[in-house]
Amino acid sequence: MDLKNKIILITGAGSGIGAATAKLLSSYGAQVIVADINRDKVEVVATEINANNGKALAKKLDVTQYEEFTSLIECIVNNFGALDILVNNAGIGGEHQKKTAEHTMEDWHNVIAVNQTGVFYGMKAALNQMNKQGYGNIINVASLAGLKASGYNLSYSASKFAVVGMTKSAALEYAHKKIRINAVCPGYTNSALLDKLLSFRPDMEERLKRVIPMNRFGEAEEIAEAIAWLSSNNSKYITGQTITLDGGTSLI
Ligand SMILES: NC(=O)c1ccc[n+]([C@@H]2O[C@H](COP(=O)([O-])OP(=O)(O)OC[C@H]3O[C@@H](n4cnc5c(N)ncnc54)[C@H](O)[C@@H]3O)[C@@H](O)[C@H]2O)c1
Repeated sequence: MDLKNKIILITGAGSGIGAATAKLLSSYGAQVIVADINRDKVEVVATEINANNGKALAKKLDVTQYEEFTSLIECIVNNFGALDILVNNAGIGGEHQKKTAEHTMEDWHNVIAVNQTGVFYGMKAALNQMNKQGYGNIINVASLAGLKASGYNLSYSASKFAVVGMTKSAALEYAHKKIRINAVCPGYTNSALLDKLLSFRPDMEERLKRVIPMNRFGEAEEIAEAIAWLSSNNSKYITGQTITLDGGTSLI
């Protein structure tokens, strides 16, 4: 895969799928800007990439703050000349194991702010720049929970269905502008987010694996491979689509 000198901003790159994506894309030659609300974590990721002859710049970014997005993208364009690709990956799992009637308002607002509004803010800020430069590519990290029912976590389900909807609707608007917008939909994937879910109900690990036809969780690196393909010109005729990486879970 050739991503030589592509300027790529990855949100939530301090751990899990975002960190794995940053490492993979940099190994294909990209200049990655690794952004996260947790500056320490993202500094560690950038240091590792740079130590392996990659090119990474660490930045603090809270995706719920539109002004932080616009000033980071301005800084990227000033430093590197363009923003070729945005990977909207930052996300939180929210409180689990609550039915809709017991769902707290606080959890609803927190999850929607990061997972849904954060993706809208990222697309809006990036599209302003991509419109100016005349091309672009956005990859949103949605979820299997954005394609089918997943009980006991309504805010997460709502936010991920919204990411799929925003991906398709915005892709329709910008296809003729040489801007592609796609999404990946991971199933259960080993990461801090999944660890938190399992910490509420440790017995769930075996139960979940039983409903995954491949009988295992995904790895962040496996999701990163699909993001790399969508980032590259190898996928240049695809827009507004979702790629599901779930070990076959959605087949049931
Ligand atoms: N792990 C899974 O099973 C799974 C499944 C489907 C989808 N996803 C999605 O994948 C994406 C990455 O999750 P992960 O599993 O790697 O989790 P993770 O917790 O390992 O990583 C998420 C990262 O996002 C950062 N973040 C949180 N809030 C932020 C904010 N406001 N601004 C900027 N950064 C913020 C965190 O600091 C963290 O580094 C999320 O969108 C998640 O919903 C994960």
